[in-house]
Formats: sequence, structure tokens, C-alpha cells
Amino acid sequence: MTANLLLHDDRTITLRGERFSVCMDSEMIQNRVAELGARISVDYEGKRPILIGVLNGAFMFLADLMKKIRIDCEVDFVKLSSYGAEKISSGVVRELKKIDADLEGRHVLVVEDIVDTGLSMQYILDIMHSQNPESVKVVTLLHKYEATEVHVQLDYVGFRIKNQFVVGYGLDYGQVGRNLPDLYVLDPHEDDS
Ligand code: PRP
Repeated sequence: MTANLLLHDDRTITLRGERFSVCMDSEMIQNRVAELGARISVDYEGKRPILIGVLNGAFMFLADLMKKIRIDCEVDFVKLSSYGAEKISSGVVRELKKIDADLEGRHVLVVEDIVDTGLSMQYILDIMHSQNPESVKVVTLLHKYEATEVHVQLDYVGFRIKNQFVVGYGLDYGQVGRNLPDLYVLDPHEDDS
């Protein structure tokens, strides 16, 4: 099988024939994740939040974030898909896996890797609220603020980014690239989509 991911040096890769450069390295990401974990630990002191990770993209961020939360917390997952194999959100959200936990009366923290158009988050929040939780808040590593089409309240945001296509640290391009510990952005001259 031909490799889709080629690592050139510390800062550049080729993924599915297109060139990407590091925009946030692992240290920068981990520092911010630690800050978010510390804030959540303070904000939810005495409570027992349930973190709902949105698969697939959020798995790496969620794992690192949970390790930085110093209070009782639980975890469950929902699986959605909106992108398909393309670089632009399809605008059609599909639920591929429902949550197992009973959210009635719970403090829910929805954990995303990225909020782009906001359609996925709006869809998830509707599902969460239908289960009568005590509270629902949102944690997202990235907010692509220029692409947002529907307003959703984002309570904890790691980084606000421009309308650029990013991969790594859980985020994929046609299902590859999720394993990269750094975040990469498509080189500008490559982005003709
Ligand atoms: C990505 C990301 C969010 C969503 C954001 O998921 O993880 O769930 O898109 O886009 P939106 O704000 O425009 O709705 P994707 O559909 O790529 O699936 P994945 O998590 O499996 O990569």
C-alpha cells in the first residue's frame, strides 16, 4: 500500500500529496490543555462532570485533557461525521454512535477537537439537552471562528484559528494524520479547494 503520510523534517509533511507545516507544536498544545484542565478542575469542584468526547477527532485531546482534570469525572462518547473525506465540512451531520450514559441530572462537558461551521455542535447540544442534564458546557481545542455559521456557546476554547485546514493531534485528512502529535496547516499555495 502506498503511504499517504510522508514526514519530511520536524516541521513539514506531505499528506495525500499535499504539503502541510506545523502551526502548533506538541508543547504549545500540551501547555494549553493543562490550562484548560486546571480551569475545569476549579469550575467543577464538588461536582462530578461527565465528559462526552465526539469521535473520532476528539479522542487525543480528550485523553490529554482528562489527565489534567484533578477532580472526579467520567467519560463517554458520541460519534458523528460531517466532513467525509474532504477538507470542507459537508454541512450534513450524521450520528454514527449514541452515548450509553444516562445524562439526567448530570453536569455534561462536550469535548470536541474543532468547531468549524458549528453544525455538529448544535446537533450534539440538542441531543444532550433532550436528556435533561443539570448543565451542559462545551470544551473545544480549536475554534475556526471565520467559518462559523451557527452560533453555539463555547465555554472553554483552546485556540481560535483562521479558516485554514488543519490536521494532526486527532484531526484527519481522509482518515490519515490523526497520529501526529503536532498540529499542521495546509500550505497556502496548496489550498485551492
Ligand atoms: C469534525 C470535528 C467536528 C466537526 C466540526 O468531525 O471533529 O466534529 O467536524 O465541523 P462543523 O463545526 O462544521 O460541524 P468529522 O466530521 O471530520 O469527523 P471526525 O471527528 O471523525 O474526524
